[in-house]
Amino acid sequence: LTSKRRPSVVWLHNAECTGCSESILRGMNPPFAELILGVISLDYHETVMAAAGEMAEKALHEATHSEHGYVCVVEGAIPTADDGIYGKVAGRTMLDYNTEYVNKAAAVIAYGTCATFGGVQAAAPNPTKAVGVREITDKPVINISGCPPNPYNLLGTVVHFLQNGIPELDGEGRPMMFYGDSVHDKCPRQKYYDEDLFAESFGDEGARKGYCLLRLGCKGPYTYNNCPTVKFNQTNWPVEAGHPCIGCSEPGFWDYMSPFYEE
Ligand code: SF4
Ligand code: SF4
Ligand code: F3S
Repeated sequence: LTSKRRPSVVWLHNAECTGCSESILRGMNPPFAELILGVISLDYHETVMAAAGEMAEKALHEATHSEHGYVCVVEGAIPTADDGIYGKVAGRTMLDYNTEYVNKAAAVIAYGTCATFGGVQAAAPNPTKAVGVREITDKPVINISGCPPNPYNLLGTVVHFLQNGIPELDGEGRPMMFYGDSVHDKCPRQKYYDEDLFAESFGDEGARKGYCLLRLGCKGPYTYNNCPTVKFNQTNWPVEAGHPCIGCSEPGFWDYMSPFYEE
């Protein structure tokens, strides 16, 4: 991975909605096509690769057996109940092939809250015993959480890994450089929070004036992510658009951050 050839990336899909891939398709710095043709070598990605069937399996085998190594990006949670039979690709359980390809990788990045903490699949009662990648390996895993995560947090992590190794991580395995502040810390509505000015219902005068959304259920004070500064699609982010933060980058947010709305 230290050679001049583009670093090989193997991207595994699991129990998920594929919104994480959607998020990176909308990255503009660099555009996705430039990213996969000029910066990295995306050697396996079921959603965007042209190959299918045996050709796709061949690409996966070659990438994961190359002497040059590969970065493994994992999207989606991994069902573990009953030996993993609730999620299969190409006849193998997700549990089986993730264990193999994660353990052989030069670096492992769990991308999105499903892959990091299990996401909605792991919400109670979690019948498939879905888990994040860290639960199936002893290898260090870099967690890029969010539902969806911000693509620049992934790109920045890959660049950091290639140049300086694994970045400093917080207690949840997330890079401090992207998850070191709470959403509330950087929120432009914080001035209203400090002045006790709150929206009391969606669409009321306070909401129209941009007041703090705490009383509508905002979880920004308990959520670590850089949405207020990096934004999505170079455009906007939930709270700026008038929607409370629902805590999507935190472990177990479907269970622990609900109810998402309060009025
Ligand atoms: Fe979809 Fe969210 Fe899971 Fe990503 S983390 S696959 S956006 S449900
Ligand atoms: Fe904090 Fe949410 Fe209010 Fe922003 S809207 S200041 S994140 S509580
Ligand atoms: Fe998620 Fe909250 Fe950002 S819901 S996208 S962490 S504002």
